[in-house]
Amino acid sequence: MYTASHPLDGKVLYQIYPRSFRDENGDGVGDLKGITRKLDYLRGGDKSLNVDVIWISPFFTSPMADFGYDVSDYCDVDPLFGTLDDFKELLKEAHARGLEVLIDFVPNHTSDEHEWFKEARASRDNPKRDWYIWRDARADGSPPNNWQSVFGGSAWQWEEATGQYYLHSFHAKQPDLNWENPEVQQAIAEAMRFWLDMGIDGFRVDAVSWMAKDPSYGDDPIRIADGKEYIEQVYGKNGPRLFDYLSMIADVVASYEKKFMVVEAWLPEWTNMAGYDEYYRKINAAVCAPFNFSPILAPWEASRFKSMTDGFLEGVEPGDLPVFCFSNHDQSRIASRIGVDEARAAAVLQLTLPGLAIMYYGDELGMIDRAIPRDQVQDPANGGLGGRDPERTPMPWDDSQFGGFSEVKPWLPLGDISMENVANQWERPHSMLSLYRELLNLRRDNPAIHKGDYRPIRTPSQVFGYTRQSGGVTVTVLVNFSAEFITYEDADLSGEVILATHSRDTDGVHARIELGPREALIIEHR
Ligand code: GLC
Repeated sequence: MYTASHPLDGKVLYQIYPRSFRDENGDGVGDLKGITRKLDYLRGGDKSLNVDVIWISPFFTSPMADFGYDVSDYCDVDPLFGTLDDFKELLKEAHARGLEVLIDFVPNHTSDEHEWFKEARASRDNPKRDWYIWRDARADGSPPNNWQSVFGGSAWQWEEATGQYYLHSFHAKQPDLNWENPEVQQAIAEAMRFWLDMGIDGFRVDAVSWMAKDPSYGDDPIRIADGKEYIEQVYGKNGPRLFDYLSMIADVVASYEKKFMVVEAWLPEWTNMAGYDEYYRKINAAVCAPFNFSPILAPWEASRFKSMTDGFLEGVEPGDLPVFCFSNHDQSRIASRIGVDEARAAAVLQLTLPGLAIMYYGDELGMIDRAIPRDQVQDPANGGLGGRDPERTPMPWDDSQFGGFSEVKPWLPLGDISMENVANQWERPHSMLSLYRELLNLRRDNPAIHKGDYRPIRTPSQVFGYTRQSGGVTVTVLVNFSAEFITYEDADLSGEVILATHSRDTDGVHARIELGPREALIIEHR
């Protein structure tokens, strides 16, 4: 059994990719004023989702080689997104609605256009040289090891001027900071305090696995998959000092009242609690939790969801906050990954599992990936068609020419706006948005779903289910992962269906219930 104990348990976080939420200044790219304009949709208005927390992907000064994940000034806003005053206004308006604000923080790397790197690359004896990771070439001029960047190709970039390579685990315009250097640790802590002092509620911390390298800097292993050789990233991340560095960051957060951070941790073994428990045990769990990406990575199979969810919730300890993550700006949209019907069932899991629920903007509309024509591709990590652009298309608010996102042609094409937009889905009773609104209301108002104890239950193999219970209220959640009708039987079950992903003839449940193909149900017990 799992019992909720963290203050954020039961709440809902909504991720905003600022380029794509709402463009207020008419340049085709979303901005901070656009987010402020749409806050009523998120919380406190007449037509609100009423989520509790937002996380805004980077809006800091940046040459945008990785759309803001290449930061050239941690303590300022890029003019594309607005000004610091625009952010302060956003924060004030969010707080006035009872909405908490997490901002993205990118500690592993800066932009190559950050002042720190400009100094570091200027000469070998510059005081900031050691803020980044420099190595000599091998005898034949090749990079110091075979490490690969996440975006493809060698992770080492040759600098002619000073005759050394620098390390970039991502884009060549994102040089890795040298976390072994205490000055780097202090500079990052200062940048975090800048925002915490301003009153933000915490951070989503980017790509933390890469902060610590294996000190051997040894070659990574070469593996074979589908008959092709590839180099597996091993030694360039998850190094022995990772939790020292993360604890330093967590200490900064913990030195303020009621702040929190969620870290983007990539585990070598993601189905196994063993990977996560280090994050909970070695970092102050009151202020830090790792995303659990299993719902994104696992195949859509009942047995997999059952084992990873039950196993995870058995493994966490009192005070830990589970953060199951079904979607984000780096992954194919849920409905494209698993199917449109399946996405309705996934919504039920997303909002009835314990912990801090995560939604990515547009999940509530059932947005699907939009294929991006080759000549319009924006993402630097564009290995597949469009890279990550397909899941970053503008939020469609209405059926006007540019979907109410902008008055001009947006930076990425919109999806099929006649099908999916906030205005028309809000009115349609069986739309994805209506389903999400029902689920969000239940998560807030039904004590069992909000913070109730979680217990695994026995189900037919194609069904994943559990109960949540608080005081006298118990609900059973059942999700049919298959395309067949399946009967669930439990002699003690007597109650009423309070939510179904598909329309049903009857709501009463007595000892048995038939689940339709890909259907998910919430049954409240009497
Ligand atoms: C994280 C971000 C991703 C970014 C990368 C480099 O994985 O989520 O969008 O490209 O880090 O900062």
